Amino acid sequence: MAENRSSFKGKIGFVLAAAGSAVGLGNIWRFPYLAAKYGGGIFLLVYIALAVTFGFSLMVAEIAIGRKTGLSPIGAFRSLDRRFTFVGVLGALVPAIILPYYSVIGGWVMKYMLGFVTGSAHEMANGTYFNSYIGETGEPLVWFLTFIAITAVVVLFGVQKGIEKVSKVMMPVLVLLTVFISIYTICTMDGAVEGVWYYIKPDFSKFSIMTVVAAMGQLFYSMSLAMGIMITFGSYMKKEISIEKSTRQIELFDTGIAFLAGLMIVPAVYAFSGGDEAALGQGPGLMFVTLPKIFEVMPGGAVIGAAFFIMVFLAALTSAISLMETVVSVLQDKFKLDRKLSCLCVLGICLLLGVPSSFGYSVWSEVKILGMQLLDFFDFASNSVLMPIIALATSIFVGYVLKPKALIEEVELGCEFKWKRLFSVVIRYVAPVCILVILVSSVLGAFGVIKI
Ligand code: PHE
Repeated sequence: MAENRSSFKGKIGFVLAAAGSAVGLGNIWRFPYLAAKYGGGIFLLVYIALAVTFGFSLMVAEIAIGRKTGLSPIGAFRSLDRRFTFVGVLGALVPAIILPYYSVIGGWVMKYMLGFVTGSAHEMANGTYFNSYIGETGEPLVWFLTFIAITAVVVLFGVQKGIEKVSKVMMPVLVLLTVFISIYTICTMDGAVEGVWYYIKPDFSKFSIMTVVAAMGQLFYSMSLAMGIMITFGSYMKKEISIEKSTRQIELFDTGIAFLAGLMIVPAVYAFSGGDEAALGQGPGLMFVTLPKIFEVMPGGAVIGAAFFIMVFLAALTSAISLMETVVSVLQDKFKLDRKLSCLCVLGICLLLGVPSSFGYSVWSEVKILGMQLLDFFDFASNSVLMPIIALATSIFVGYVLKPKALIEEVELGCEFKWKRLFSVVIRYVAPVCILVILVSSVLGAFGVIKI
């Protein structure tokens, strides 16, 4: 399998490809709603602290495993130690769980994109619009199907490169728009400055173990960790490229965009609601409720809103493509299916899990698993349960079986590994202990033993 892996051309090629996968709805939709819900500044602080230590080490480990073996996740773990093949297998499951509900949200984004483009911005700014929209059965389903169909067409016809090129050009525009919208909100809206404080100033009284659980789940999700994707990327990376630097760049980029998205959304919700906890804690719908309200009062808001949702759509699409591509290639490798059939299977999985996620807001709103709506449940199962298990197994594997030294050597093939001590300590001691605590808390939380 390893023989004819093509490599990323330039230095920047690797970083851009990995960033294209990393930057998506996780940054723009998921991060702000979690930050608002889990106390603003304290969530931000915990997230950044985790990103520079834990996220960094795990990403270096995954990329190095990929580059060392030149294989995709299942093969990579198998070739290093057969007993750990299961980590690769579990890793392949995660994108299969995420992709369906990711596409449901992708569908919401498409609906808003079209709404803004066709001039229904005003309607969408109504506070009740979003909930009544997702409360419908048919339309969200159609948008979900459209989003997943576009993703499948891209993957099937292998036109990723084209889409990625477009999205690379669009990414800086997305950043500029986000900065502009944040500045506009902060300067013009009453109460937004207090909202900024809420977002950046840690309030330690709001800290709980669930802050860490949520921040860690978000870290995995946003940086595309603990699902084998970075192993796959690493397997295409040339030996002379610095894994450490690339990781820092991806991390900075990914966290930067998440931070900006939060800055655009959290202070605005704060301002609209006067800091009301229910409004801040409303969850997945936050972006769709708050942004249209900002665009409504902003001069030229309808055009800016349209541009914004187009960019978000592109960011979501590139991430969905990399999610689907991963599942398709696992099916191809493992079950020797051809590409078309693999794609069909993935579509089947998407329907199976995506339709209930979408209906969970309408006809099946009564159906709850562990007290969670279906979409929230899939999100929880992948981010708060499966991914921590994979990260735990990876750190035990690297820390005690393979030994950090083996990966440090791999990293040093490129250049000196400056943070290798931090890497070893985090992988051997900090990560296993933290993740175990997280895992236990999230499971206890889900079963209602402790409060989420
Ligand atoms: N990291 C992406 C995001 O933030 C989601 C994703 C996860 C994409 C895993 C690909 C693989 O939206």
